[in-house]
Amino acid sequence: MPVTIAPQVYWVGAIDWTMRDFHGYLTEAGSTYNAFLIVDEKVTLIDTVKKGFLPEMLARIREILPLERIDYIVCNHVEMDHSGSLAELARIARPEKIFCSSLGKVGLTRHYKEDLPLVEVKTGTEVSLGRHHLMFLETPMLHWPDSMMTFLKEEQILFSSDGFGAHYASSQRLIRNRHDCPPKYFYELKKYYANILMPMGTLVTQLLDKVAKLGLEFRMIAPDHGCVYENPDWVLEAYRTWAAGVTQPKGLVIYDTMWHSTEMLAHAFMEGLMDAGVEAQLHHLRATHYSDTVTELLDAGLMFLGSPTINNNMFPSMGQFLTYLKGLKPKKKAAMAFGSYGWSGQAVGLINQELEAMQLKPVHEGLQVRYIPDPDELAQARELGARLAREHLLKSA
Ligand code: FEO
Repeated sequence: MPVTIAPQVYWVGAIDWTMRDFHGYLTEAGSTYNAFLIVDEKVTLIDTVKKGFLPEMLARIREILPLERIDYIVCNHVEMDHSGSLAELARIARPEKIFCSSLGKVGLTRHYKEDLPLVEVKTGTEVSLGRHHLMFLETPMLHWPDSMMTFLKEEQILFSSDGFGAHYASSQRLIRNRHDCPPKYFYELKKYYANILMPMGTLVTQLLDKVAKLGLEFRMIAPDHGCVYENPDWVLEAYRTWAAGVTQPKGLVIYDTMWHSTEMLAHAFMEGLMDAGVEAQLHHLRATHYSDTVTELLDAGLMFLGSPTINNNMFPSMGQFLTYLKGLKPKKKAAMAFGSYGWSGQAVGLINQELEAMQLKPVHEGLQVRYIPDPDELAQARELGARLAREHLLKSA
């Protein structure tokens, strides 16, 4: 069934209850692919859905009107979870125009290699639908070069594409305010920011500033994943905080281990963090998915990274984690490496190199322990955990 989100504006998307992997990101709560129909003199569909979900979207639209009534389609973003069914829909509905950004046109042409009625729009371009007017806002690199958002002026709804989205399948379509937001949803909102938008924090801040300067007020934000937000100031504020890299007194110990020596050190660092009275989390890289670890890291100010040395290298899971983290360009994190070794001991140095490559200067040269840590070495790790927490998380203490 379609869901009315405002007079003559309907959610007609699809719910993906079973998706658990979104190009490597663990999506334990599934997702939605949101599309919105505006019924006016020019019937307009904002975005489409992932290819296999086209029948679900079409069934929802047909409950409102025949597909041939669609005049315009807006393609805010050329990625297959939103534009994957666009060409097929265009063959069925034969829309008069498909609005997209200039790079959206390049992307759609490369994807579909067929003659689509593409019309380029820019920031500030307005289109009349009759009683309603759309205004477009280009948002390049949020999160692809072609990305844009669409503002429905009369209803003050921002169709925000991937921005402000969450991978979250549910029967709930609207979140009315912060108190109406389930804790699990808020986690997924944060996870989405951490895994998709963290590298673009500066652009997010610029977008929020631009919106404020244009005097745009949103009564509703309708992203392409998750729920539609009424009274969305709390979502904008959360994005502003995350984009600014604001951290909490929170430290993470992230590690893998061969024969539990590095794990013993990991627990000692945890004891130190707890001695300092800060929030402490232990993330074993084969027990916690890296997409969850980076979610928790988003607002943490300190991390300890532990790996044994194996074949003159760091543990493969740590290599994978650091590669992923490097792409996300984390900011404002103090970090320290640790690990056990038998005879060569390269892991700590290699982790430090990766930290430097991320422009995160290690706050300690690292702690290495040969074979199995003794009580003095464990005490040293615990003391370092507490001291670095006080220095980097509790600076005013
Ligand atoms: Fe939800 Fe960038 O696609």
